[in-house]
Amino acid sequence: MDDLDTLRAKYLASVASASDEASLEDVRLAALGKKGEISLKMRDLGQMEPAQRQVAGAMLNVLKDEIDAALRAKKTALGDAALNERLRAEWLDVTLPSRGRRVGTIHPVSQVMDELTAIFADMGFAVAEGPQVESDWYNFDALNIPPEHPARQEHDTFFMNRAPGDDRPPHVLRTHTSPVQIRAMTEQGAPIRVIAPGRVYRMDMDQTHTPMFHQVEGLAIDRDISMANLKWTLEEFCRAFFEVQSVELRFRASHFPFTEPSAEVDIRCSWEGGQLKIGQGDKWMEILGSGMVHPKVLAAAGVDPTQWQGFAFGMGIDRIAMLKYGIPDLRAFFESDLRWLRHYGFAALDIPDLARGLSS
Ligand code: PHE
Repeated sequence: MDDLDTLRAKYLASVASASDEASLEDVRLAALGKKGEISLKMRDLGQMEPAQRQVAGAMLNVLKDEIDAALRAKKTALGDAALNERLRAEWLDVTLPSRGRRVGTIHPVSQVMDELTAIFADMGFAVAEGPQVESDWYNFDALNIPPEHPARQEHDTFFMNRAPGDDRPPHVLRTHTSPVQIRAMTEQGAPIRVIAPGRVYRMDMDQTHTPMFHQVEGLAIDRDISMANLKWTLEEFCRAFFEVQSVELRFRASHFPFTEPSAEVDIRCSWEGGQLKIGQGDKWMEILGSGMVHPKVLAAAGVDPTQWQGFAFGMGIDRIAMLKYGIPDLRAFFESDLRWLRHYGFAALDIPDLARGLSS
């Protein structure tokens, strides 16, 4: 039966060339659908002689099965191809790091406070706190700055208002973190080792001064603490903080009413090409004030100066933040400019840790 061979060839070729499931379905309908060519031939069997029908019927069945099998095989193949194509097109590398969106940053001042807290904690210093609105006794008198003392004028103090008729001395916005020394010693007595980071206020405003800024106070009182311990502590701190192998500090004799002797401390640095390098070079940069706590200050805080002695220091946090992270203008610290914060801020989860590295 030549026409069956022709049909076979025709439909197997159509099956082979069907490029998607829709065109394959068209082929199936054309061959095996109700009005399909092969189905119609099956119907014709009814008009045949029984002997002829038997032969033709068997051959038609074989052809039908053959085309049906080809259709199924092709359908599976097309399905696999479609799946493979989808897998290829929708490919996603889940090993790629996600593109995280930073929701805010840690301000350099907070970062530096965390860094120095980590360093001093490692040396056995606890964190102490005090109020920003302070009585003039804590801010001045207890620190050996009596009312007529010229240092009171030098501090450019902000005074709080008293109610009319209230003649007591006004409270002040603390001009330094030193009052926290008094509070900590009064509460804890000696021996004591604390740092007190926090906000302080002075009426001053230019490129290197803002009316509000940050200091960290350090205090170590015990029976035999000396300037040598102060020097080691500060060197150790600077080495860790600036993340350099070695630092050199210069102690310059100075005067603070609350320490005796007193020293201002400079750190060796260079400014080559406008780039600050800490630890080497021929320049010195002042970074803090310090000294041995004055016996009158110990006494004011209830600590017996015949039994106890120790050192204190006060350092500008904003200043060391500018030095470490190369930030040129102090005023920008407190302008809440999002572009500045994104540029100089730190990722929220990078908590400074001496073992992992402070700033990385
Ligand atoms: N309180 C001083 C200041 O603000 C710094 C200081 C603290 C100096 C402790 C000596 C000891 O300038």
